[in-house]
Amino acid sequence: MEAPFVADLLKGFPEATPPSPQEVEDILDKGKELKGLSPGEAFKLLSVNDGEIRRLIGSVAGWVKERIYGKRVVLFAPLYLSNYCLNDCVYCGFRAGNREAKRKALSLEEAVEEARALEKRGYKRALLVIGEDERRYDLESLLKTIRAIYRETGIRILHLNAPPMEVEDFRRLRDAGIGVYQLFQETYHRQTYSAMHRGGRKRDYLYRLTAMDRAIEGGFKDVGIGVLLGLYDYRFDVASLIAHSWYLYRRYGTHAHTISLPRLRPAPGAILKSPPYPVTDEDLKHIVSVCRISLPSVGIVISTREPKDLRDELIKVGVSQISAGSRTEPGGYARGRSFERQFDIFDARPLEEVIEAIIREGLMPSLCTSCYRVGREGKVFTEKTLRGEIKTFCHLNAILTLKEYLLDSAGNGVRQKGEEVIRKGIEEIEDEGLKEELIRRLKAIEEGRRDLFF
Ligand code: 5AD
Repeated sequence: MEAPFVADLLKGFPEATPPSPQEVEDILDKGKELKGLSPGEAFKLLSVNDGEIRRLIGSVAGWVKERIYGKRVVLFAPLYLSNYCLNDCVYCGFRAGNREAKRKALSLEEAVEEARALEKRGYKRALLVIGEDERRYDLESLLKTIRAIYRETGIRILHLNAPPMEVEDFRRLRDAGIGVYQLFQETYHRQTYSAMHRGGRKRDYLYRLTAMDRAIEGGFKDVGIGVLLGLYDYRFDVASLIAHSWYLYRRYGTHAHTISLPRLRPAPGAILKSPPYPVTDEDLKHIVSVCRISLPSVGIVISTREPKDLRDELIKVGVSQISAGSRTEPGGYARGRSFERQFDIFDARPLEEVIEAIIREGLMPSLCTSCYRVGREGKVFTEKTLRGEIKTFCHLNAILTLKEYLLDSAGNGVRQKGEEVIRKGIEEIEDEGLKEELIRRLKAIEEGRRDLFF
C-alpha cells in the first residue's frame, strides 16, 4: 500500500536550532488551547536544551495532563506469548541471530495460566506481545489464545503488540476482541531503520509504516504507535511520531490512542550494546512534556524500562499509562525466569508497590477497561477527550476499579491508603447525582458485585 504521508514525515522540519523565548511562549500559548501542536511546532520545542525553559514547558504539560485526564494513571502488564522471531533487530533479545536464546511459544493452557497469574495480582488489562514467526505461533493460535483468555480468566481487555499484517487478519483479531493494536515504528528515519533491522520481514519499512492504515481498515478503532528512543535523533523521531498521529487524525478522525516512548535497554544477545543516540533522563522528561502538549488526547505510555523515580516524574509531566510488575519473557508470571527476555526491565516493583507510589504522589491509580467495552473508542474517544469530557469517566472508573483491587488483591498497608484516596476522590466530585451513583456502586462492590463502570 502506498503511504501518502511518508513524504510529509520526512520533509519540512526546521533546523534543530533552539527557538527564541518569544517563539516558545507563542507555541505554549497555543498549547494551552488544548488543540495540540503541529509536528513543526513540536520539533521547535524538542530543540530546546535550556533547563529553565524545559521546566516551563514541563509545567504547561502537567497542566494539560490534569485538564484532559485528571489525576488518573492507568496500569497494565505485557503478556509475552512467544519469543520466536525471524527478524534480526540489532537491539532485541529475541532476534533470529541470537542462537543462544532459550525460545518458547506458550501453549494455549500456558497462556491462560499467565493471564490468570496476572488476574490474581489484580490486573484487568494485559498487552499481548508476540515475536514474528508464524511457524511457531500463527494467527489461528493467537485467535484461540485471545478467546480462551477472555473465556477463562477475569482479564477484561486484551491489547496486542504484534507484527504488521493484512487487513483481513486485523479484522479477525478485532472480532476476537482486541482493544488496541499497537506497533512501534522504532525509528522513522529510513536509513537508520535499514541499519537496525538486518533480517526478516521487518526490513520492510513501508509495510510497517502503513500497518495502522490496514488495522483501521480492518476495523480497529484504536491504535498505538511508538518509537524506540536511542536509535536516532529524538527530535526527528518524536516529531515524526507526532506527525504520524496527526496523519491518522486527518485521515480517520482519530489520533493514535496511545504513543509509547521506550528507551533502548540492554538486551541479552543484542548486537547493539549502547544507544547510538543516547537520550538522558532530562531529555525523556522533555520528550514526554512536548508529546503531552502536542497531542493532548493521546495516552502516553511508559514502561518498566525506566527507573522508578523517573517514572514518578514522568507521570507529572504527562504520562497517563504505565506498565507495572512486568516480565518480558514468555511464561514469566506463572513460572518465573526460564526463557529469553526481550530486554532488561529497570523498575521491578510489583503492581502493589507501584499503586502505593502513585497514591503517594497524590494521583489516582486506575485499572479501568471501560472505554473499549462501551464504544468510547477511536473518533468518539478523541472528540470526547479533546472536549475535556473523558476525565469524569476516568475519575469515576478509577475509583471503582481501585475499590475492587483493594478488596480482592491488595495487602493491608495499601488497603488503608487506597480507601483514603477513594474518600478524597469522592469529595472531589462536584455533580451530586454522579457522586451518589458512585457511592451506590461502591457499596455494591463491597457486597460482592464486580465490573461496574460508567
Ligand atoms: N530495549 C528497549 N526496548 C526494546 N524493544 C525491543 N528491544 C528493546 C530493547 N533492547 C522494544 C521495541 C519493540 C517493543 C515491543 O519493544 O520497540 O517494538
